[in-house]
Amino acid sequence: MSNAARIELDGKSYEFPVVEGTEHEKAIDISKLRAQTGHITLDDGYGNTGSCASSITYIDGDAGILRYRGIPIEDLAGKCSFVEVAWLIIFGRLPTLADRDRFTDLLTESSRLDENMKKHFDGFPTYAPPMAILSAMINTLSAHNEEVWEAHDDKSIEIAAAVLMSKVRTIAAAAYKSSIGEPLVYPRYDLKYVENFLHMMFSVPYRNYEPSETVTKALNLFFLLHADHEQNCSTSTVRMVASSKANMFASCSAGVCALWGPLHGGANVAVIDMLQEIQESGISVKEYVRKVKDKEDGVKLMGFGHRVYRNFDPRSKILKQAAEELLTEMNISDPMLDLSQELADAALNDDYFIERKLYPNVDYYSGVILRAIGIPLNMFTVMFAIGRMPGWIANWKEIHDDPQGRIYRPRQVYTGPVNQTWVPKEERTYPPLY
Ligand code: ACO
Repeated sequence: MSNAARIELDGKSYEFPVVEGTEHEKAIDISKLRAQTGHITLDDGYGNTGSCASSITYIDGDAGILRYRGIPIEDLAGKCSFVEVAWLIIFGRLPTLADRDRFTDLLTESSRLDENMKKHFDGFPTYAPPMAILSAMINTLSAHNEEVWEAHDDKSIEIAAAVLMSKVRTIAAAAYKSSIGEPLVYPRYDLKYVENFLHMMFSVPYRNYEPSETVTKALNLFFLLHADHEQNCSTSTVRMVASSKANMFASCSAGVCALWGPLHGGANVAVIDMLQEIQESGISVKEYVRKVKDKEDGVKLMGFGHRVYRNFDPRSKILKQAAEELLTEMNISDPMLDLSQELADAALNDDYFIERKLYPNVDYYSGVILRAIGIPLNMFTVMFAIGRMPGWIANWKEIHDDPQGRIYRPRQVYTGPVNQTWVPKEERTYPPLY
């Protein structure tokens, strides 16, 4: 083997091939490790584990690079709509005019929910978290939409993908409307993807909501910049579920559940919570930054830093500009948004953050944008889920299209008790659990 990794185990030497990706990332292929050596690898949290080969998204965290299907997000952000980028991510190339028109028509025609499905919303309490409604209703979609059972080639997968992307937006708006006790608003066939979502969120029977171009542009960018981010927690979850040959909707519903957690999709909420806390406590930005630097009570500057991006998060650069344009255009005077700017300026000029290479991540400015548009805090993670749908669908498709695909089944190192025997009830004299 010319390019191989060697390991010594119990006096024997083994060789494993080194594989290289198209961007020259290198990995040791250990798929035969257990068969040859009887050992497995242990990598709690998967920080060093490549779980798959994928051709969808490329990230270089040190250089601040994010590319969908090889195209830098900076290029896409200026030139494409979210819908075009979704098609690119799912099908691997930019859509032709015919592709784009067909997909747009499919999205428009799929936007309405089955009347029977609408009854499910009545069953949720008004205080139900919208993420709970979203994941449940995406699963429910498989019962109402036979398209998902027929998805097997590019044509039928395109139809199922359009149904999911379109209806997820209708479900999200319906979840919001039912949480505030307002009637559900029907989609309009004359509106584009983002405008239609805003209409379903903010129109009421006696007044149509008309978003400005800047609002539409900012939300389009928000969705586009969240569209995929390679093997994060929710995407890996989607692939795991998909590997059992579960349908597209069920797999993506599992992705919503994974995204729900505060360590993943909930960080943009944490940014607003932090700003609210600073405002309510009345402490100065200088004092808050001091608390962060002293790691007082584990206080962190939410929306700063990233596990992968050690230089800057390329998404936040684009969103910062969009946020500034939006605030200026809307002539918004919101003390919390002013505070976010003051805090970011203070941190970016402070040695603690400079030395540790801590820059605003995508969540810092996305929270600002969503708040300025009027999206309520409990819908922030739902917005992330709508944006991430193309990435999940593309990863589901990659698994589906792989003729060699096997069910995902990691192993473990067992650390529990060894060879215990059953004890009769009356002899179980253990101390109380709590
Ligand atoms: N505020 C203050 N200090 C920080 C922050 C922060 N936001 N982030 C990292 N640091 C400090 C760490 O305490 C550490 O300091 P030390 O060297 O004195 O010990 C140093 O910077 C290095 O940080 P790491 O521990 O290497 O960062 P890690 O990769 O483990 O964590 C993370 C990354 C979780 C994103 C972290 O930066 C953080 O908690 N940020 C705030 C939460 C947030 O915004 N999350 C969203 C991420 S983006 C996304 O998920 C879409």
